[in-house]
Amino acid sequence: MWKKCMRTLTVAGLVVASSSLFVSAAGKDVQSQIDGIMGALPKFAVPMREVGDRFQNMYFAAEGGNWALASYMSRYMNKAMNPAKITKPNAYPDWESFYADDFAAVNKAIAAEDLSTFKKEYKAVISSCNSCHSGMGYDFIKVVKLPAPPDKFIEYNLSSKAADVPK
Ligand code: HEC
Repeated sequence: MWKKCMRTLTVAGLVVASSSLFVSAAGKDVQSQIDGIMGALPKFAVPMREVGDRFQNMYFAAEGGNWALASYMSRYMNKAMNPAKITKPNAYPDWESFYADDFAAVNKAIAAEDLSTFKKEYKAVISSCNSCHSGMGYDFIKVVKLPAPPDKFIEYNLSSKAADVPK
């Protein structure tokens, strides 16, 4: 009886020990997979290219009276930065406050479909884009306003209302 008990306990112990080994090996595996996914997610440089394009497109949309497109460009310019919430958690809040505060006047002008205020605020916010670049050590990345939209595959001259963008 005693022997049988010991044998059962030993087997049970081995099972527990090996399963905890298995769990920690699996844990390591999961961690390395997470690290792999994190490494593949964009940080700032990739989404900033989208920010740059949408920002430029927005101007021509507003100028063409396509206020829904201008509003849409602004919304997705902001959302383009979402991966940075997890890949750059320390720097993302700077973007968040830039969009909520510095960019608010541009968004307000879009909502009001007020072209002259939009143009004024748009040009003013470019210096805020660039001061964040300088502040983060990228003095050499200086946004300039383009004479034409970078994306030529959409119609900018189309009458629409800012509120027309689906939720
Ligand atoms: C929170 C700070 C911050 C703000 C605000 C910001 N940027 Fe950037 N931007 C960066 C950083 C940092 C980089 C460099 C990317 C890197 O090295 O990861 C960058 C790079 C860029 C690039 C170059 C991307 C490339 O690799 O080709 C463009 C274009 C750009 N930003 C446009 C803009 C525009 C337009 C605005 C304003 C609407 C803006 N940025 C606002 C931080 C910011």
